[in-house]
Amino acid sequence: MTRYAPTPEELLEIATGVARDAAATAYRMRAEGVAVAATKSTVTDVVTAADRAVERQVLEALAKLRPDDAVLGEEYGAGEPTAAASGVRWVLDPIDGTVNYLYGLPHCAVSLAAEVDGEVVAGVVRNLVTGEEWTATAGGGAWRDGQRLRCSDESDLGQALVATGFGYDAARRAHQARVVAELIPHVRDIRRFGAAALDLCLAAEGRVDAYYEKGLAAWDQAAGGLVAAEAGLRVTGLRGRPAGPDLVLAAPPALFQALHDRLADLDASGGP
Ligand code: IPD
Ligand code: CA
Ligand code: CA
Repeated sequence: MTRYAPTPEELLEIATGVARDAAATAYRMRAEGVAVAATKSTVTDVVTAADRAVERQVLEALAKLRPDDAVLGEEYGAGEPTAAASGVRWVLDPIDGTVNYLYGLPHCAVSLAAEVDGEVVAGVVRNLVTGEEWTATAGGGAWRDGQRLRCSDESDLGQALVATGFGYDAARRAHQARVVAELIPHVRDIRRFGAAALDLCLAAEGRVDAYYEKGLAAWDQAAGGLVAAEAGLRVTGLRGRPAGPDLVLAAPPALFQALHDRLADLDASGGP
């Protein structure tokens, strides 16, 4: 029997509807008050009731709309089935930027991507406070609010505004801080906004020139990584490796080599 493969556009339409409802739930729960429900990898790696409620809502919505698909979510993991008969797997960060969410800072998002046979083909990142929404399909470009996105054409590392982030583990953060301390004299400036998916989307439209971070999980980078790549950024790891937990580097083609080489010299993918 031949499997009916949904198009990236069909998957994006589902992703967008589900992410909008999820963002509305997170926004409403924020207005009602938010508290730490538990901690995860370290005492500062928090989860709120909203992280869990949003993930459950998305799981239920996808189970209705796409019952044969797999879902990987940050809070509840891979669930069942782990490999989908349909070939489609959804990758969800219910709230990216949870610390911002906890503190009432308007920089947090729902991130939802669809993979077909292991390749991300559609993704949406929706800022749950501002309503800004970035979307992309493989080969179909990156978009925000009807505008096609193109990354920065900056070529001078000394002029580049570079976003980054830090993990929750203290030893990892210390290494990341050393890398930033060595990088900052060579760039225009550094930004640390606190939501990896949004960092990638900001790079997609040149609101920062580039972004890098060690230690991202699949749900941090799936949707935003596609948005960035479709906007023309090179999204990779160091030394020819794919983007992944060791490093995600998203840089415009003209800036890529200079930033890549500097990060490789600083061992940005190393440390704990
Ligand atoms: C975190 C944010 C942060 C990044 C961390 C992520 P969370 O995700 O994206 O900006 O620096 O690496 O873990 O915990 O808010 O979903
Ligand atoms: Ca995240
Ligand atoms: Ca999260």
